[in-house]
Amino acid sequence: MSYQNHRVAEVAETLTKRLGELADKTEILKAVELRALYAEIPTLPAEERGAFGKEINQLKTELERLAAEHQAQAEALPPIDVTAPFDVNIPADKRPKLLTADRGSQHPLTMELSKVLDIFYRMGFTVVESRELDDDWHMFTSLNFPEGHPARDDYDTFMTIETDKNGQPLIAPAHTSTMQNRVLAEYKINLEQGKPIAVLLPGRVFRNEDLDARHEHTFHQFEGVYVDKGIHAGNLLATFKTFLSEYYQQDIDIKSQPFYFPFTEPSFELALSCPFCQKQGCQVCSHTGWIELLGMGMIHPNVLKMAGIDPNTYTGFAWGCGLERLVMMKHNIEDIRHFESAKLDFLRQFA
Ligand code: DAH
Repeated sequence: MSYQNHRVAEVAETLTKRLGELADKTEILKAVELRALYAEIPTLPAEERGAFGKEINQLKTELERLAAEHQAQAEALPPIDVTAPFDVNIPADKRPKLLTADRGSQHPLTMELSKVLDIFYRMGFTVVESRELDDDWHMFTSLNFPEGHPARDDYDTFMTIETDKNGQPLIAPAHTSTMQNRVLAEYKINLEQGKPIAVLLPGRVFRNEDLDARHEHTFHQFEGVYVDKGIHAGNLLATFKTFLSEYYQQDIDIKSQPFYFPFTEPSFELALSCPFCQKQGCQVCSHTGWIELLGMGMIHPNVLKMAGIDPNTYTGFAWGCGLERLVMMKHNIEDIRHFESAKLDFLRQFA
């Protein structure tokens, strides 16, 4: 930056040099030389004051900019060589400087999922996380979607170019139900020991959706799977009603209606009484008093058979519930896209 007035130019040079030596760069704005320039203004002939004052202001703005720039550079963390070996025994003050934990917080979905898990732990469920890449057999065939069945089209999934051993592309799962066959087969030993299979399957799922306030391409579900002798739909509804009442900390009513899923028979869609207005009607429930929440049903005999469980001896239920929708209702969040947006002003409301 060049200045017409030689006095201003001189001070500019002195102060720019001094800036390099200051620990606190903002101190430069309090420099006596700068104050002296301002003090000079009233001593000048009236016609010179304007131009002189303008240049001093320019200098001040420039110094402010330089000070802020230096400060930002000083605060920036040095780059970390991620390939360098890391000695876990190194003293804390010699470790690479990361952002301190107190500048972060738990994501609302993580926080709410742990509440969900806690409720189901208390009901005796075991938790198994679902996977984020799976094969065609677990996504469809093991769930009683035969090859070429039109119901496969209801799940518009993402697939990889790589294929599995059967030549089928791998799939980013569209639901946590992909885990059903695995847990049924793994835990069927429980049945032989006279104990139920009770597993909760939380996980991240993916769909090729048109995005809007209620639809995301990436979201979370928690699947429930329960099998024993003599299990019926009443057990399913009672279990889920208990969960909802516990989660919303109030008595929640439920309403089921018939639906279709290939992996359950019968299948239901479950609605819950609006936790905001207790069925009086409000914006959250579109003035109906009820909110449709999830799909569920009695596990189809073919699904049990494919896991080596005899459907003539054992019956069971399953559900797949969207976590985001549940949390949105709890906290009155109007748009599902907030969750994946990484917007701090959204996240900090839950910190
Ligand atoms: N997988 C279904 C979906 O995402 C939800 C579902 C429905 C899961 C019924 C179940 C079930 O386990 O029994 O659309």
